[in-house]
Amino acid sequence: MKIQILGSAAGGGFPQWNCNCDNCTGVRNGTLNAKPRTQSSIAVSSNGIDWVLFNASPDIRAQLADFSPMQPARAKRDTGIGAIVLMDSQIDHTTGLLMLREGCPLDVWCTDMVHQDLTSGFPVFNMLEHWNGGLNRKRIPVEDAVNRFTIECAPGLEFIAVPLISSAPPYSPHRNDPHPGDNIGVLIRDTQSGKSLFYAPGLGRIEPHLPAMMAEADCLLVDGTLWRDDEMAHNGVGDKLGVHMGHLAQSGEGGMIAFLDTLDKPRKVLIHINNTNPILIEDSPERAELAAHGIEVSYDGMSIEL
Ligand code: MLT
Ligand code: MN
Ligand code: ZN
Repeated sequence: MKIQILGSAAGGGFPQWNCNCDNCTGVRNGTLNAKPRTQSSIAVSSNGIDWVLFNASPDIRAQLADFSPMQPARAKRDTGIGAIVLMDSQIDHTTGLLMLREGCPLDVWCTDMVHQDLTSGFPVFNMLEHWNGGLNRKRIPVEDAVNRFTIECAPGLEFIAVPLISSAPPYSPHRNDPHPGDNIGVLIRDTQSGKSLFYAPGLGRIEPHLPAMMAEADCLLVDGTLWRDDEMAHNGVGDKLGVHMGHLAQSGEGGMIAFLDTLDKPRKVLIHINNTNPILIEDSPERAELAAHGIEVSYDGMSIEL
């Protein structure tokens, strides 16, 4: 299985257009040892030709242009995107669907809760009906402990949806009324090699169903949004806490580092990194601390093969 990191930043990207925090200023001016990053998305393929796009970020045009397999040029109009899977209905994961309208019809896999948001608060499914058949909705189940599904363009890959406790987006009609399926992680297994990836760009809590499953994965690509829970306030750019946004901070007791330390087998990689996070600075003490725990920080253009 081939995994391509198209966008490694959280909502807003890095630098964020209106942000003058130390990180955004430093990367904008070239005075920090840090790479710019686009918003949260990966692509996965079993054959290197047909790709499943996970999330459609507002930066999708640049992301597709930067990854040549996404334009196989087999016909006048073509794409390497065989299907799209949505992890939630957040703006940074769904607005790219509008940019893909010229390629409709497109298969879009999502849970019932995500579909509800995308046909009400942000009705992109309804809007795109006017573009050549629009988005062909495919249902991701979340009712069971193991919610297996397969995708036609990815023979040899098996997908298991894992419901995660989090909040629906601010625009959602059920923002304050959480349901299973608002947010998911996905375990992707290559049935030939037996290797697996667990992908969860939004992981707010280590719920009881997670440790055993994550311990068996070969690679974890998980929530790297915040170093500290009060990072927004600490940087003077807001007051939302990680716990309220559904993002488990890396540092501190019960944080992501402490949890990942309990897992021996998987390669550990962080994704969906907020522009305030000091781990974006490659020579920061926080980055060195991650490295000491065997934890990597993903970047745009990173490839992982399992
Ligand atoms: C999140 O991951 O918490 C959201 O994407 C934030 C946002 O879109 O503003
Ligand atoms: Mn996000
Ligand atoms: Zn910033």
